[in-house]
Amino acid sequence: MAPVRIGDLTLRHGLMLAPMAGVTDASFRALCRRFGAEYTVSEMISAKALCYEQKGRESAPARTAALAAIGHAEWPCAIQLFGSDPEFMAQAATLIEGGSYRGALPGPMPVAIDINMGCPVQKVVSNGEGSALMKEPLLAEKIVAAIKKTVSLPVTVKIRAGWDENSRNAVEFAKRMEAAGADLITVHGRTRQQFYAPKSDNKIIADVKAAVKIPVIGNGDLFTAEDVRHILEETGCDGVMIARGALGNPFLFTEITAMLEGRNAPPQTVAERVDVALAHARAMIEKKGERIGVAEARKHMAWYCKGLRGAACVRDGVMRAETFEEIKRLLTTLKGTSE
Ligand SMILES: Cc1cc2nc3c(=O)[nH]c(=O)nc-3n(C[C@H](O)[C@H](O)[C@H](O)COP(=O)(O)O)c2cc1C
Repeated sequence: MAPVRIGDLTLRHGLMLAPMAGVTDASFRALCRRFGAEYTVSEMISAKALCYEQKGRESAPARTAALAAIGHAEWPCAIQLFGSDPEFMAQAATLIEGGSYRGALPGPMPVAIDINMGCPVQKVVSNGEGSALMKEPLLAEKIVAAIKKTVSLPVTVKIRAGWDENSRNAVEFAKRMEAAGADLITVHGRTRQQFYAPKSDNKIIADVKAAVKIPVIGNGDLFTAEDVRHILEETGCDGVMIARGALGNPFLFTEITAMLEGRNAPPQTVAERVDVALAHARAMIEKKGERIGVAEARKHMAWYCKGLRGAACVRDGVMRAETFEEIKRLLTTLKGTSE
């Protein structure tokens, strides 16, 4: 695999953590970086919400802006925007590049603005946003061009195979995004109608790769290092983006890196897995406070438990935990067990 270039940045393997709303917050991004992800992307951020929030009262909480905060431990990190109005999208991208908006936190600049053209959620597509843009290639072009015109950061686009089986337009669409100025494109090999099943189609990723000159990142169903080997062989894509495979399993990035470098990665022990899970929960609580941190950490803790002996009962307890100490007590009981 040749290195992937995004602006001034060069990624040796093009191994990326995918954006996941409600999952890839700063703590998880930093953790995945530590285990080998070379690049991370924020949760999706509404361009309109970010712009409107700036007009709110000084004292009102800047919740959308908080999603765009990046720490050094997660860098290189891109910010993903969603929206359907080229003006709002460009305005939001300008705010992010400038870094001086209300609610902004000190930290490094993002490495790119990513545009969400793949979200299948009804609430999003009914506003013409996310994967609905694949039905409106002209508007999608305008969005890319408007952002390119206003910021100097690289602009990347994340798409699906198409809207449905009758409109698998990823190839034509990707060519148009490239012509509009996109610097990189990620392709999830499913249509909007498929949501997350059945299996992602590598053929459409290969077709996009053959059709454009910008780097193409393959995405969809990458749960093991072997899955990554296949997608690279089958599509010739320049890099990969891991989403659900990383849930409770940031170690996957270490395994993929070892595979790409022709090494073996030793499997982690249950005790190591528990320690990483607890460090993850602790980081979330440090950033968000115990009440919100614990509430948001519960699902991650359940994912770390998956496949471990005796985990079902621990998982149930974790989903009701109110404090870090409770999470710690429950997870520690798994330490003496094996997978
Ligand atoms: C919980 C969850 C949240 C997601 N949120 C986003 C998002 O904010 N932006 C986006 O572009 N894709 C989002 N996705 C899609 C993933 O980035 C990815 O394209 C998809 O899950 C396919 O990859 P996978 O099969 O490896 O999971 C989300 C997926 C999941 C499971």
